[in-house]
Amino acid sequence: MRILVTGGAGYIGSHTAVLLAEAGHDVVIVDNLVNSRSEAVRRVRELTGADVAFHQVDLLDEEALDEVVASTGPEAVIHFAGLKAVGESVADPHRYYSVNVGGALALTKAMAAHDCRTIVFSSSATVYGDHPTLPLREGAPTAATNPYGWTKLMIEQILHDLHQADDTWRVASLRYFNPVGAHPSGRIGEDPQGIPNNLVPYIAQVAVGRREKLQVFGDDYDTPDGTGVRDYIHVLDLAQAHIAALDRLEEVGGHHVWNVGTGKGHSVLDVVAAFERASGRPIPYEVVARRPGDIATCYADPTRANTELGWTADRTLDAMCIDTWRWQSSNPEGYPPD
Ligand code: NAD
Ligand code: WQD
Repeated sequence: MRILVTGGAGYIGSHTAVLLAEAGHDVVIVDNLVNSRSEAVRRVRELTGADVAFHQVDLLDEEALDEVVASTGPEAVIHFAGLKAVGESVADPHRYYSVNVGGALALTKAMAAHDCRTIVFSSSATVYGDHPTLPLREGAPTAATNPYGWTKLMIEQILHDLHQADDTWRVASLRYFNPVGAHPSGRIGEDPQGIPNNLVPYIAQVAVGRREKLQVFGDDYDTPDGTGVRDYIHVLDLAQAHIAALDRLEEVGGHHVWNVGTGKGHSVLDVVAAFERASGRPIPYEVVARRPGDIATCYADPTRANTELGWTADRTLDAMCIDTWRWQSSNPEGYPPD
């Protein structure tokens, strides 16, 4: 199949592009590189030997986007492109609504204009809000607590409504839990710009000597060791879920929401210990105040995806840390600038 991957130069998109190309799909990447480097696309080509096409286009540039869709003729789209920093979304909501919601509108408009109505969308466990009933099932009430989360809910709603209006739309909203890890080659991985917001990239930068120590945001939660518990999922297991979702959409059509997690929770200190094992280096840390907006515990019930997609996330926390460390230690400064 010819598959358009928006945000394909980014962290999750680049890993998914590798698996798509390896599965024999014809991959076309659209990305404006606002949070990524074109080197990631070069390395996707290097890893797969595939002729992955790349268009540096902003989704908000409707004319350019339409031209890419028209000229490449995708049969399906995997839509990763968007902004993802929760704190930034609180500070600049207009930008988040504009890029994330506006981008999804422009994309689906261009798709419909060129007769492509199959889309897999990157949603997030953040749509379950801050009082989740655990483990989280897809039927749980949704509630956003910040503009980023609202954009995910709004886009899910837009896609739902498109399918309601025209059931030739085939839609999967994948609610990711906490993606971490890297390709085992160490050639592609997560490359946050500036100070990492997320736990594993921060720890990786401590291990490689770019940062002095980790700040653990609170050790007085109601969890086994007092630190926050999350459902970390290896990025390649996550990438595989997109292929399974596309296959399922081909078979049955419809509009589906699938949790993409392992169903297991690990604390901050579990992750620190796993990273120390993976890297053979100590991870100095200090416990500081809770981070505003954080919850104690969040993990998926992935049964629906396991059953309907025939997919499970098998890779362990140790594998996630080993692969992250291979990427970070061989690319201490991330990708070279364009
Ligand atoms: P990322 O920032 O690495 O990738 C997103 C890509 O989209 C980047 O390459 C960026 O340059 C591109 N982009 C942004 N705005 C664009 C625009 N207007 N036009 C074209 N390209 C644009 O992020 P990621 O971690 O790979 O996340 C991918 C998707 O998954 C995002 O939609 C994110 O919200 C979602 N998600 C991520 C996580 C996570 O923890 N990483 C969790 C849940 C959901
Ligand atoms: C994990 C745990 C922190 C950093 C975020 C978004 C969510 C989703 C995934 C997109 C928590 C603790 C973290 C640090 C720490 N993104 N921590 N020190 O908060 O579960 O989810 O990313 O959809 O929307 O909110 O992930 O990696 O930031 O935090 O102690 O320097 O690590 O308190 O318990 P989170 P995270």
